[in-house]
Formats: sequence, C-alpha cells, structure tokens
Amino acid sequence: MPKKAVKKIGVLTGGGDCPGLNAVIRAVVKTAVNDYNWKVLGIEDGFDGLIKPEKTRPLSLESVRGILPRGGTILGTTNRGNPFAYKVVEDGKTRVIDLSPKVLENIKGFGLDALVVIGGDGSMRIAYELLQMGAPIVGVPKTIDNDISGTDITFGFDTALGTATDAIDKLHTTAESHHRVMLVEVMGRNAGWIALESGLAGGADVILIPEIPFKTERVCAQIEARSRTGRKFSIIVVAEGARPEGGDVVIQAREESGIVRLGGIGNKVAQEITRMSGHETRVTVLGHVQRGGSPSAFDRILGTRYGAAAVRLVADGCIGQMVALHGARIEAISIADSIRALKTVPTDGELVRTARSLGISFG
Ligand code: F6P
Repeated sequence: MPKKAVKKIGVLTGGGDCPGLNAVIRAVVKTAVNDYNWKVLGIEDGFDGLIKPEKTRPLSLESVRGILPRGGTILGTTNRGNPFAYKVVEDGKTRVIDLSPKVLENIKGFGLDALVVIGGDGSMRIAYELLQMGAPIVGVPKTIDNDISGTDITFGFDTALGTATDAIDKLHTTAESHHRVMLVEVMGRNAGWIALESGLAGGADVILIPEIPFKTERVCAQIEARSRTGRKFSIIVVAEGARPEGGDVVIQAREESGIVRLGGIGNKVAQEITRMSGHETRVTVLGHVQRGGSPSAFDRILGTRYGAAAVRLVADGCIGQMVALHGARIEAISIADSIRALKTVPTDGELVRTARSLGISFG
C-alpha cells in the first residue's frame, strides 16, 4: 500500500482491561509526537468513542505523563460495545443495531489517518471487519489470557501470571500447615496459559486446563499418591474454562447479549474431591485481581515496544497489521491471521511434557 501523509492518529483500548495498557498508550503518544510530530486523539471506552464524539480527547505528552506504572487504562474500555451489534434502548425497548457506518464516518470526521486498536481477540475481530470497510487500523495484542495467535506473548499475561503465582505461593503455606488441599481457580477463558504457567511456577501438584479434559478420580489419585508418601497437602490450579471428560464448562452467568461468563469450576471440583476422597479442600477464586495492579517490568517493556512499533507500522503504511513478538523481535502479522484461531496450549507441547515429567497431573 502506498504511504499516505499522516498527520493525526487515534488510539483506543478495547475488551477487558489488563496491566500494561497505559504503557502502550504512552508509547504510542510519545513516538507519534517525538518521532513524527503527529497529533493523537484518545478514543474512550473502546469503540464507543467512535460512536459518541464526546468520548474523545486529544492526547499530548503531558496527558501520558506518569502513567507507565499504572494498571487499567486512562482511556477506559468495554468488552460489551461491538459497533456491529450495538445495544440501544429506545422507549424502554432494547434493540441491537449496526453502527459500523457511523464509526467509519467518525474516523473520517475526526481527521484520523490511522487508528491504533489495542485489544484482545474480540477487538481484533471488530477491527478486521472495520478494515474490510476501509478503516485504516493497526493492532496491538492485549490480554491476560495470552490466547492471540501469531504473537508469542500478549502484554498483560506476565503480570497476571505473577499475581497467580504469588497467590499459589501464599496458599502453599496454609496447605502445608493445615494438611489441606488448596485449589485456586484462575482466569484464561478457553486457554490454559495462566493455569499452566502459574502452576509450573508455583509448584502445583495438579493443573486442570481447558485443553485437557479431566477426571476427578485422577485428581484424587494424585492427592492419595502424595498422601501415601507423607505429603499431606496438595495444590491444585484450575482454569476457569476447564471441563471434565464428557462434560461442559461451568457458566457463572449468561448475559442478555449472549456473552457467557465462566466461573465456578473450582468449587465443583473441590466438592467432588471431598466427596470422593474425604480430603478437606478449600477454594480461592482469584478473579479480577489477575487483571489489576501495576504492570510487571516485562509488560511495561513489551507494551512500550508494541506501542512504538504500532506507530512505526502506521508510518510505514502497514495498515491491517498487528504488532507481534516473535522470539526476541517485534514484528508484524496481519490482523486477519491473528483472528483465525485462538492460541491455546498445545497438549503435546514442551510445557505440558515438562509438567508431566515433574509429576504434575492434568487430571
Ligand atoms: O479475557 C480476559 C478475561 O479476564 C478472561 O480471562 C475472563 O474470562 C473474562 O475476561 C472476564 O470478563 P469480564 O470482566 O467481562 O467478566
């Protein structure tokens, strides 16, 4: 694509928040201003700001001062605002309408030569559809779930992993002192990365992930085997999307929009363990603690590299691309490729094999 003279870009954060979003926003603004002398428009609450013009504000070097170590996003976000299926309430009735033409109109109206979309797979899907309509978008992969294809790591994952590992370390002491089974339920939706890696880092005995359906009998067998060798406690890490063989995921709530909220598998497994083996099993559901807090040094650096690289993609005319980490290098892949499939844990991959070699059970 021939390079277009860029004067102004927009930036938005979409989907669930995660640590490192502000690092990306800061890097986008600083690189755009320092290297190219462009103007930057902050779009608030995901794609919402492209529907409601009052939800935008100019971002200057001053506006991004001091935000690097801050969790969340200064722009606000939503994982419920898809412009292609936008919910409006009129006369007390809810209707779902397609506001994508309005988004395109506003991108033009705001004078944006490009838009940096910082988001997970949901936001990248929306970005892809908008791209098809001619929106000049580049992407930055974000999510604690680490499930976006085409990049080794998404920013936010490392901090969530640290939080989950820290929780496992803390639960370990009580497990050992009280001779209990301690179970921790972590996020990740349909991918087991947080569970697998925090389980490895925290020395878990059992890790249950969506990619490997489990049998509670096998979980109990592991607890019993440890018990026989004098280890009277066990640590179990369960991904919220884990499911038993032949069974389904546990759904906490089904929203009107059709969005399914996962959660509750931890309590279910704990009850089964107690019923089958008599072992006292306590549950901790980590929940949104994993999405919060100050980003780790790794996420600050990755977010900063992604933000600067996204601006360079715009400068190079690489519309439709998403920045990605490949080994030690920041490269780019097409947004189309990033949404082809979720990046789940390979069940015969090195991490799972290593865990098994260490005696960890996947149930
Ligand atoms: O995608 C990030 C994530 O935290 C998932 O791990 C989790 O299933 C989901 O978002 C929760 O979303 P919400 O905060 O909208 O309930």
